[in-house]
Amino acid sequence: MSSAYETAHRQSLEDPERFWSGAASGIHWFRKWDRILDDSRPPFYRWFAGGEVNTCYNAVDRHVDAGRSEQAALIYDSPVTGTVRTFTYAELLSHVERVAGMLAAYGVGRGDRVIIYMPMIPETVFAMLAAARLGSVHSVVFGGFAGTELAARIDDARPRLVLSASCGIEGDRVVPYKPQLDIAIRACTHEPERIVVLQRPMRTAELIPGRDVDWDQALAGASPHGCVPVAATDPLYVLYTSGTTGRPKGIVRDNGGHLVALNWTMDHVYGVEPGEVYWAASDLGWVVGHSYIVYAPLVHGNTTVLYEGKPVGTPDAGAFWRVIAEHGVVCLFTAPTAFRAIKRDDPRGYFVSKHDLTRLRSLFLAGERLDPDTLEWAQDLLGIPVLDHWWQTETGWPITANCIGIEALPTKPGSSSKPVPGWDVRVLGPDGRPSKSGAIGALVCKLPLPPGTLPSLWNAPERYRETYLDAYAGYYLTGDAGYIDDDGYVFVMTRTDDVINVAGHRLSTGAMEEVLASHPDVAECAVVGVADALKGQLPLGLLVLKSGVDRGHDAIVSEVVQLVRREIGPVAAFKTAVVVPRLPKTRSGKILRATMRKMADGAPYSMPATIDDPDILPEIGAALRGIGYARQEPETGGG
Ligand code: COA
Ligand code: AMP
Repeated sequence: MSSAYETAHRQSLEDPERFWSGAASGIHWFRKWDRILDDSRPPFYRWFAGGEVNTCYNAVDRHVDAGRSEQAALIYDSPVTGTVRTFTYAELLSHVERVAGMLAAYGVGRGDRVIIYMPMIPETVFAMLAAARLGSVHSVVFGGFAGTELAARIDDARPRLVLSASCGIEGDRVVPYKPQLDIAIRACTHEPERIVVLQRPMRTAELIPGRDVDWDQALAGASPHGCVPVAATDPLYVLYTSGTTGRPKGIVRDNGGHLVALNWTMDHVYGVEPGEVYWAASDLGWVVGHSYIVYAPLVHGNTTVLYEGKPVGTPDAGAFWRVIAEHGVVCLFTAPTAFRAIKRDDPRGYFVSKHDLTRLRSLFLAGERLDPDTLEWAQDLLGIPVLDHWWQTETGWPITANCIGIEALPTKPGSSSKPVPGWDVRVLGPDGRPSKSGAIGALVCKLPLPPGTLPSLWNAPERYRETYLDAYAGYYLTGDAGYIDDDGYVFVMTRTDDVINVAGHRLSTGAMEEVLASHPDVAECAVVGVADALKGQLPLGLLVLKSGVDRGHDAIVSEVVQLVRREIGPVAAFKTAVVVPRLPKTRSGKILRATMRKMADGAPYSMPATIDDPDILPEIGAALRGIGYARQEPETGGG
């Protein structure tokens, strides 16, 4: 007899339309769809074509209409400002209606883009929901990105309006946002009509008359605005993510499929009932923040926590336990790096004993590989299921997970569990044939992808096809490599492209290389992701200087570190680089990044058979040892 999980998974693949039309009954439709799955233009698929919805209506208004007015919708918990503030669904509605009115007064309407460059404050959530309310398309830019990255997003999204705040707060530091915003506006070719700036008292910003508007003043004159029905296939948001090059990819999310899928995951994946308190300790600038701080919990009628703080240092390693106890969180979702930070500061879990965590039922982790040590530590400490799950900005919700709302499966350390219903995950070799069970290959998902996943890239359907669909006909290329074992458990091992994962943040080494290469003394460079006990990976730069450069290497290294911070932002966490005489390459000129990464990690490696100059590896090894890496002598021999 097949298990509940196996039955659900099989049904979702055998008859996806039936499966997802069932899930769609959890959503309010202004107009029902004509076709559940529009597969008339493969490889482009659309879910719920012909249907009309409004995401904000589903996340806010309908709960007020259905009797949840007085239930807490959003708890803003900000240890960095000493604030805890709860918004009921009725209060959330009243804020969102007015912010929507403010946007509408500046001409924002259906299909217009709004860039949101704001910190972890309630107004950011209001802004996202308000944009959705008007049928416009929001694009949230993470505060750790510098002005040039923001400019690239403004030029691609071409927003009518930019919403921002005077500052963010990082631990005990106030980080001004406005200077980066001003750099961005100067650098981009597209001119947004208005910049609306929320002044936070910790650091106010200077406004430029005629262009910048004070948020409070703009809001004061705004009248509440209702929900605008949009096509289910219309875009709700664009979220930029790192790819192989410095040009970020605009992941598009639709309205209808996204509502259906996210609502379904709350009970089936996370095992959470409407009315319960759910907390995703992430940032609104990342997909986890979009999906699981804002949309999924609110659409599902939960209480969501917006936490402006860190796992440690705000004020201590007990911060997460305080939030869980104080607000009655039943399910926590965060990145393994947050737990590694807590473990580093409080290895014995002293702070846990100071809080009542009895309501917490499960901990979900994602965003990077969950190392078995951290898994075990968290499990022993909390005595609840600790569940690794795998997903991407592109997918918007998990590809593999232990769906405890359907059936709790045994966990296997190192595995992010089995494919969630809707996902047909395969492992393919370079020849396109399925890999044997347990053999590593490219992790791909059979098309069509389930609802809520990316239908395309913003303004770049060809890039979407080339990046994700061309490698293996009929499959979506995840960019991850891994294997599936005999029991059907998926193990995600590494990226197959130049993306690295730093503290659960996805970054492009290619983008960093572009910045390093722009330094006048740098002839050639490579950036690799090296292992780090806290952040999982950290970028490490290798620089070859132009001939004739006789300046001190320390000065050049410090300049390139500053350059990456200025051009990409502090989030890149680029702090280390080393000058080397040459880069190891294959005879066809391909830089051997994987070999250098292994060398830096002190992991075993063998001399690549195709290397053009075998003598260079010992020199690279010596340079790496000089900065504290590569604590193992190179191996010799072919391979
Ligand atoms: N605005 C401005 N700057 C930001 C920022 C933001 N929103 N977020 C991060 N930064 C800055 C940090 O202050 C830091 O700057 P610094 O080099 O001047 O110290 C830099 O970007 C790197 O940030 P990060 O890699 O996050 O390091 P950290 O030391 O500040 O924090 C952790 C480390 C592990 C505590 C933190 O990364 C964390 O909590 N991660 C887990 C949760 C998470 O965000 N997951 C994302 C996906 S689920
Ligand atoms: P992002 O788009 O920023 O969410 O990053 C997605 C990438 O993070 C994936 O393609 C993986 O490389 C990595 N990732 C996410 N979750 C996991 C996980 N549970 N295990 C291993 N890697 C993961």
